[in-house]
Amino acid sequence: MLVRMRASAINPSDLIPVTGAYRHRTALPFVPGYDGVGVVADVGPGVDPAMLGRRVLPLGSAGNWSTWKALPAEWCIDVPDDIADEQAAMAYINPLTARLMVQALSPKPGARIGMTAGASSIGRMLIRLLHAAGALPLAIVRSERSRHALRGEPVEIIEESRPLPSLDAGLDAVGGLAGARLAAAIEPAGVLLHYGLLSGRPLTGALLEKAKASVRMFRLRDWVHASPRSDFRAAMAEAFGDIRTGLSASPVAAAYPLSAFQDALLHNARPDRRGKILLRL
Ligand SMILES: NC(=O)c1ccc[n+]([C@@H]2O[C@H](COP(=O)([O-])OP(=O)(O)OC[C@H]3O[C@@H](n4cnc5c(N)ncnc54)[C@H](OP(=O)(O)O)[C@@H]3O)[C@@H](O)[C@H]2O)c1
Repeated sequence: MLVRMRASAINPSDLIPVTGAYRHRTALPFVPGYDGVGVVADVGPGVDPAMLGRRVLPLGSAGNWSTWKALPAEWCIDVPDDIADEQAAMAYINPLTARLMVQALSPKPGARIGMTAGASSIGRMLIRLLHAAGALPLAIVRSERSRHALRGEPVEIIEESRPLPSLDAGLDAVGGLAGARLAAAIEPAGVLLHYGLLSGRPLTGALLEKAKASVRMFRLRDWVHASPRSDFRAAMAEAFGDIRTGLSASPVAAAYPLSAFQDALLHNARPDRRGKILLRL
């Protein structure tokens, strides 16, 4: 399938090859971009020509910061008509991860779930999904800016320097000391899902060794590549549903043409950014 791309979000995972982190894992040339929406422009032999002109998310591989993307038809997910391009361009990485992690935790009503980076795009989705599931989310924030950004969300907020209460489970996107403190606050029968490394520091250390809860890593790409494609499609249909209801919709901070990708990356790095940066392709 050949897809004429329309828009793609900038996500933290896209920045790994851009910044040169883990460079031994990146073979050049490399086009970043895991999220994104486009229109089917051509189909190969054996693919239903009715796909031509359909809006799809071309997923399962990088390469979406591009005008064109060629990929196997099985990795193209149809976009429902009522999901606008802007939300479709951010519909995969965060909405699907948030839904799968809440399903993995499967919190009981009233369960206290702590989280780091609660004011991030995915953090807000997690807060709303947990609240909708009857759990009590607790966001650990490092700044007044994050506290302010969470105003109006159904979440209790605590400064990262304050002692944490006892928690039933946790979600960590930061690693380092913040992640270890969260792990240490979880009851022995509980679980910490560790899914990001925003601090750039691994989740290790003496505090983590004292933690009694089990610590599990969550990586969307592992789930996506290990699951039957029918499960993947069904989970994406649920993620679209969460976007529709507003649980997993994201604000857009700004959109840039692909030719201005450097400005887009600089804006993405600004601490006052609120929402995702999109590339128009
Ligand atoms: N494992 C997976 O499959 C998977 C899937 C999706 C996302 N993720 C991860 O989820 C994380 C968030 O993604 P996103 O798209 O939601 O990002 P985003 O919207 O760009 O989030 C930025 C947020 O991160 C916070 N932050 C940055 N560095 C921090 C640090 N050292 N300590 C605490 N907070 C910090 C910022 O808080 P301030 O307001 O305090 O600056 C800001 O709220 C990333 O690590 C991403 O890789 C993982």
